[in-house]
Amino acid sequence: MKVNQLNTLIFKNPSQDDINKAAELLRAGKLVVFPTETVYGLGASALDETAAARIYAAKGRPSDNPLIIHLAKANDASKYADISPCYEKLADLFMPGPLTVVLPKKDCIPFSVTGGLDTVAVRVPSHPIAHKLLEAASIPIAAPSANRSGRPSCTTAEHVIEDMNGMVDAILDGGESDLGLESTILLPRGDKEVVLLRPGAITIEMLTENGFEVTLDKAVTEKPKENEKPLAPGMKYRHYAPKAQMILLDGTLDDIAEFMRQSPDDPSVAFLCYDELKSKTGNKKIINLGSVSDPLLQAHNLFHALRCVDQDDSIKTVYAPLPDQENIGLALYNRLLKAAGYTVKKL
Ligand code: TXA
Ligand code: MG
Repeated sequence: MKVNQLNTLIFKNPSQDDINKAAELLRAGKLVVFPTETVYGLGASALDETAAARIYAAKGRPSDNPLIIHLAKANDASKYADISPCYEKLADLFMPGPLTVVLPKKDCIPFSVTGGLDTVAVRVPSHPIAHKLLEAASIPIAAPSANRSGRPSCTTAEHVIEDMNGMVDAILDGGESDLGLESTILLPRGDKEVVLLRPGAITIEMLTENGFEVTLDKAVTEKPKENEKPLAPGMKYRHYAPKAQMILLDGTLDDIAEFMRQSPDDPSVAFLCYDELKSKTGNKKIINLGSVSDPLLQAHNLFHALRCVDQDDSIKTVYAPLPDQENIGLALYNRLLKAAGYTVKKL
């Protein structure tokens, strides 16, 4: 149950003054939600155990699921973690941006932030409001996605208000997140070898083009077994699950169009649907994902679409296309598989 206790300050299109106030709140151990280029983050000081504990309480998140720390500059990582040539190369190429790198942690980062692990995940967001906030606060900010645990990540301040109003001290409203899916998470294994723990907008193709050897952690594409601990502990939880039963359709665009045509027009059934299919499907309940040829737009729309499904109580079943695994498609594939609890119907 939600307990509304706090008078949440909401700063729309925040000025530098507003950002400075939010930075002061963070320095005082309070919770501040801020926009990033991926999704909104629920921030607190990463140096303060009590503040970190408040994040877990507000999100309703299991305490073994570690938090990413956000920094103003890639160079700052050496204060909080043991960096390596591999980190430096990744930082030169992709930071600031939608990339998180897991490194051995230094003692100043409490175990309550890392879920008891001796590593810490580091990210340098490129969103100007996130950057200004981190500069003004001049401390590392631990921030998971700003949704309640189990809900789709928040890509607008409206989503954050739905989930977190009264549970955080302030929300910086910076409009819609640009990318809409969470950052790529990498675990370096050598100078050029990295394990991909969570796919995002920094893709396998981009990494291999730059000389990295990428191994895919199997939790990205397969359901973790009972008692199995994925390298990114969060991957074992069923995230983003809509209330309706979700089923992924594995087939060509024509197969999916045919499946939709043959389904009865039933208001308890909805389809997450590409633009190209909308006109061909009779009177179906449709939630738009964007064009089949624009996976970046699909990524931008996905979490909003899942929230729309939850807002319509009459929807009991929702079908969605199983995406290709190329480029950012792998991130869509991973999020949709998890949302559907790995239920796939072969057409
Ligand atoms: O784009 C993002 O990464 C967003 C924005 C706000 O920065 N943050 C985000 O945080 O998605 P969260 O907490 O929702 O997801 C973090 C993931 C979890 O799966 C967690 O288990 C993993 O990162 N993680 C964090 N620290 C880790 C560590 N030391 N080792 C392995 N995985 C870690
Ligand atoms: Mg999350």
